[in-house]
Amino acid sequence: MKHKNIVFIAKSLDGFIAGVNGELDWLNAIPNPENNSMGFDHLMKEIDALVMGRTTFETVCGFDGEWPYPKHVFVLSHSLKEIPEKYRDKASLLKGNEQEVLQTIHEKGFYTLYIDGGKTVQNFLRKDLIQELRISTIPILLGNGIKLFDTLPKSLELTHVKTEVFLNQIVQSHYLRKK
Ligand SMILES: NC(=O)c1ccc[n+]([C@@H]2O[C@H](COP(=O)([O-])OP(=O)(O)OC[C@H]3O[C@@H](n4cnc5c(N)ncnc54)[C@H](OP(=O)(O)O)[C@@H]3O)[C@@H](O)[C@H]2O)c1
Repeated sequence: MKHKNIVFIAKSLDGFIAGVNGELDWLNAIPNPENNSMGFDHLMKEIDALVMGRTTFETVCGFDGEWPYPKHVFVLSHSLKEIPEKYRDKASLLKGNEQEVLQTIHEKGFYTLYIDGGKTVQNFLRKDLIQELRISTIPILLGNGIKLFDTLPKSLELTHVKTEVFLNQIVQSHYLRKK
């Protein structure tokens, strides 16, 4: 079974995934009258499970509307003691280094994973554990906030697969890790 870790994330033109206080309103500011999922629905069919940092999990729990993920969510946290009861059939808690976390998830039979979050994505990249990046760039200069990328111990070469433009505004590029 081929293991694959995919990042699917939206960033501002200046490289932020959230405002200084976690603001995400700018992500949905572009009118989307036909509710184009911009690759999200397709990704949900492709993956076996999600791996998400605690901050992102708590953010998603605070969203209005239905739970957005049809696949199981593994939440990474050292501080969270348990998943709130409401989400226990949807999410479970894991901690440890990235390789250990992946091994546990693979042993449960999940191989194609959507890796989500800020620090979480950075930690996986630092260990060269991401095979695919799908990055949507929103035309806004946020000026400051939570960065998508951080420094890495070595450069990681990627190859461009495709770029699509959604709503004539959002540029989504897919990259594969060159191995
Ligand atoms: N623009 C977008 O598309 C997009 C996508 C996702 C998220 N976001 C936003 O970006 C921000 C991301 O926040 P963030 O940088 O704090 O990142 P995060 O990855 O969501 O959460 C970081 C937390 O995850 C836990 N964690 C990560 N790796 C771990 C490991 N190996 N073992 C145990 N725990 C681990 C730690 O939780 P503990 O502190 O509990 O130990 C850490 O503080 C949020 O505001 C979110 O809403 C935006």
